Amino acid sequence: MELEKSEFLKRKAAEKAVEFIKSGMVLGFGTGSTFKYVLDILAEKIKSKEIENIIGIPTSNKTLELAQKLDIPCGKFSDHPIIDLTIDGADEVDSKLNLIKGGGGALLHEKIIAQASKKYIIIVDESKRSIYLGEKWHVPIEVVKMALEVETKYLQSLGARVVLRENDDGTPFVTDEGNYILDTNFGIMKSPKKIAKKLDRRAGIVGHGIFLGMTDRVISASKNGVQVLVK
Ligand code: A5P
Repeated sequence: MELEKSEFLKRKAAEKAVEFIKSGMVLGFGTGSTFKYVLDILAEKIKSKEIENIIGIPTSNKTLELAQKLDIPCGKFSDHPIIDLTIDGADEVDSKLNLIKGGGGALLHEKIIAQASKKYIIIVDESKRSIYLGEKWHVPIEVVKMALEVETKYLQSLGARVVLRENDDGTPFVTDEGNYILDTNFGIMKSPKKIAKKLDRRAGIVGHGIFLGMTDRVISASKNGVQVLVK
């Protein structure tokens, strides 16, 4: 029952986000179970010709596969480096619309695509919202393989609890770029900017899931309706 409710809310948020898609746009396609509903709805609108001539730039191989199955046209980021609108999910959204992302492991491509987007819309159900980042989620951190030990020690030295992300069979999870993910718990982050700076200066850390000041709108669905939060 709870699961059904959250799936319903994800779909509601996605429906609202699709209203921002116009024919002819280059779209950044996010990753995850919430974003998947955007693809489902978009595929219907392309079929009925309500939306035409869009090109999607996927943030993961998983999303590319899903889009292809639904016959949604996708292109290469290198051919379309300026994106009109990106829609994506998030793991946590704070009161200033900062985000934690990367639960699905696509954080590096997600941040690159977000930074290339004129508009960035995040869709969530209300369970993802908090006052401060870290209340509900850890920070996924992408590290190159050879730096695994040194960056684990570095993150521990900052006082964080660090876990190497694994697949169900116990092998390390590997990102689309061939790196590892360290799920890193800093506790509640009242100054996420300070933590992000400490991560940004490490050579072995190629990306992290703290997305600050990037979001234009958050579409948040709850049982009382859909809210559009603007920066
Ligand atoms: C993927 O790497 C993530 O950033 C997702 O966008 C995020 O984890 C949200 O996923 P769900 O919509 O599946 O919760």
